[in-house]
Amino acid sequence: MTDQSVVLQDVRQGMIPAHIYNDKEIFDLEKERLFSRSWLFVAHESEVPETGDYVVRRVLEDSFIISRDEMGEIRALFNMCLHRGMQVCRAEMGNASHFRCPYHGWSYRNDGRIVGLPFHQEAFGGEEGFRKKGQTLLPAPSLGIYNGLIFISMDPDAQPLEDFLGDFKFYLDYYTKQSTDGIELRGPQRWRIKANWKIGAENFAGDMYHTPQTHTSVVEIGLFREPKAEKRKDGTTYWAGNGGGTTYKLPEGSLEDRLRYVGYPDDMIERMKEQWSQQQLDVIGKDGFMISAASLFPNMSFVHNWPRVEEDSDEVLPFISIRQWQPISENETEVLSWFAVDKNASEEYKALSYKAYLMCFGSGGMFEQDDVENWVSLTNTAAGSMARRLLLNGRMGLLENGGNVVEPLTPEQYSGPGSTRVGYSEYNQRELLLRWADHLERPARAAAQLHVGVDPVSAAPAACATETAPHTAAAVPAMMSQEA
Ligand code: FES
Ligand SMILES: [Fe+2]
Repeated sequence: MTDQSVVLQDVRQGMIPAHIYNDKEIFDLEKERLFSRSWLFVAHESEVPETGDYVVRRVLEDSFIISRDEMGEIRALFNMCLHRGMQVCRAEMGNASHFRCPYHGWSYRNDGRIVGLPFHQEAFGGEEGFRKKGQTLLPAPSLGIYNGLIFISMDPDAQPLEDFLGDFKFYLDYYTKQSTDGIELRGPQRWRIKANWKIGAENFAGDMYHTPQTHTSVVEIGLFREPKAEKRKDGTTYWAGNGGGTTYKLPEGSLEDRLRYVGYPDDMIERMKEQWSQQQLDVIGKDGFMISAASLFPNMSFVHNWPRVEEDSDEVLPFISIRQWQPISENETEVLSWFAVDKNASEEYKALSYKAYLMCFGSGGMFEQDDVENWVSLTNTAAGSMARRLLLNGRMGLLENGGNVVEPLTPEQYSGPGSTRVGYSEYNQRELLLRWADHLERPARAAAQLHVGVDPVSAAPAACATETAPHTAAAVPAMMSQEA
């Protein structure tokens, strides 16, 4: 592998080597050093509301069963049988008290513990030969939950999830906690795009600049109340903790007026007033900003917008979508897109909000189609030799001497945490890439291995059944060593 330190140095200056959007070596490094230890979103608690409910989700090649066990606890179990490694659960979602491996029939409770092992006595000599007791499907090394959002990390020593989220929690509440009961999800819709995963994350983090150009047609057909797409420049971008996003500027009015302006009905507004802190309410009611798209490092995004849902009416209605840019390779991404809505909203609101979401995002959404065409084209071009000579300028918002084009907002102008500015800039995209560079620079630690059913210290080398087999004794202990 080549030394990537020059690439990382350029990125830290806001200059982006174009090939990072389609480079196998970079992708291998991302797998080894970023996805191996960052917190990654896998599911929401509302997707597994009852005991026994499960969904199967991936982190790169690793499949996990996200289940609610019989005690009501959320588990993330590596979906690989302890026997010969078959995928234990082959369905995408369902309800099961047990999972039985299709290969030889080992079975596991929905908390991961082995319960059934066919011919335990005859094949393994019972507990003496293979200790069934205490064996479980491998749990994800770390698991954390915030507002029902379930995250896992492959790093057993990952910092606590809440510390990782930091001040981004303030903004997460707008999307996922509009009342005490939080959100429920529909989906995910899943599809693959031939684009690098970083592009979507960067776009949602802060790219208000693309809206007037990329999405002109959506504005022209009157999907939004605002007649001009460049309205986006009046909004702010913010970066807080490990995430950041964009906002729209709202017209003058009270908190209630402004929430009504984006289409929230009064019963939801009342619940928001009870749920959100004064500071959270002030961003809307006092400062006049409404959150829109956002990304949490590395590959989770959110969107909140309020299109017209009925053609002959001026009324708009908000929707929320949660999305994940799941990397498949350096030039392919699986997009997972969920519709999210406050659990306590009326059925009528939920139905209209879902319609609003489907018009804009999801596999057939108009915004989605506009965006992806750019990202696929960009990814294609980034693979060639000329892209290796090109350093893209990702310094929007910065003067050449490092000064700001527009100064950050003061606490009097903006009540939320983080670094916030009005207008177009690429501060947030740079924040994402700075974290990316920090990960890529830091070597990964070797992970401990689990020995299934034997004590690695006392277990005798697995001798061959016949004299003639060519095994060497040395080969076996090497395979069984505790640490890689
Ligand atoms: S691989 Fe699962 S029982 Fe054999
Ligand atoms: Fe877009």
